Amino acid sequence: MIKQLVPSLILLILTGNALADTPPQVATCVACHGQGGVSGNPDWPSLAGQKQGYLIAQITAFRDGERSSPQMAPMVKSLSDADIEALAAYYATQTAAVAASGDAELVASGHNRAGYCVSCHGMKGVSANDEWPNLAGQQARYLENQLLAFRNGTRDSGLMQTVIADLSEQDLAALAAYFSQLAR
Ligand code: HEC
Ligand code: HEC
Repeated sequence: MIKQLVPSLILLILTGNALADTPPQVATCVACHGQGGVSGNPDWPSLAGQKQGYLIAQITAFRDGERSSPQMAPMVKSLSDADIEALAAYYATQTAAVAASGDAELVASGHNRAGYCVSCHGMKGVSANDEWPNLAGQQARYLENQLLAFRNGTRDSGLMQTVIADLSEQDLAALAAYFSQLAR
């Protein structure tokens, strides 16, 4: 009896949540960030399961022109702070997926270099701080592009710029491949 009830209870809880908490703007985001925030495009980041505080900071930075992206800016320019909080809460509670979209041959070398990173991004790519992004399972080319953007200053973070100062482009690609295949 209990065994038969459990699946329908779980279904009820899952659909109940999805219906109650989905902000209307999500309909716009789906085109690039995928259903439930799981992106199928290596250049576009997944948002599912990302840290809520980090999402709020990044969406706000796109809106206010502090993080520049010609694709993102028009999508968020008319969002209020409350809209941004609702979107961040929604995406932070969606189930993350593992993209594993990097060059498989670079994964081992990325693992060797990840010692630099785990103090902030966590042993398994899941950070302990709400302001620091999870990297586990993220799209590899997206991660690599962000590392290059920190390096050349088109994305501003003094912290990240310092951390990767001595790494080669090959190292950055390897780190992206490594984190992209990490399951939580
Ligand atoms: C036309 C495609 C497109 C649409 C639609 C879109 N985005 Fe994006 N989004 C991108 C791209 C491309 C990036 C990566 C930008 C970069 O390179 O910095 C991005 C990055 C982001 C990031 C940063 C993720 C991270 O890990 O730092 C967040 C958060 C985000 N988008 C939220 C949203 C939300 C919320 C919506 C809907 C209101 C939305 N996006 C709609 C293309 C899109
Ligand atoms: C001292 C803490 C710290 C360390 C160490 C660190 N990071 Fe970060 N990382 C951050 C913070 C904070 C951000 C968010 C930056 C921002 O506000 O744009 C970030 C952002 C990133 C992003 C962008 C993620 C996204 O979703 O857009 C990537 C990729 C990244 N870090 C990779 C790495 C790698 C690889 C290493 C190791 C070589 C590393 N980080 C080491 C703190 C750290």
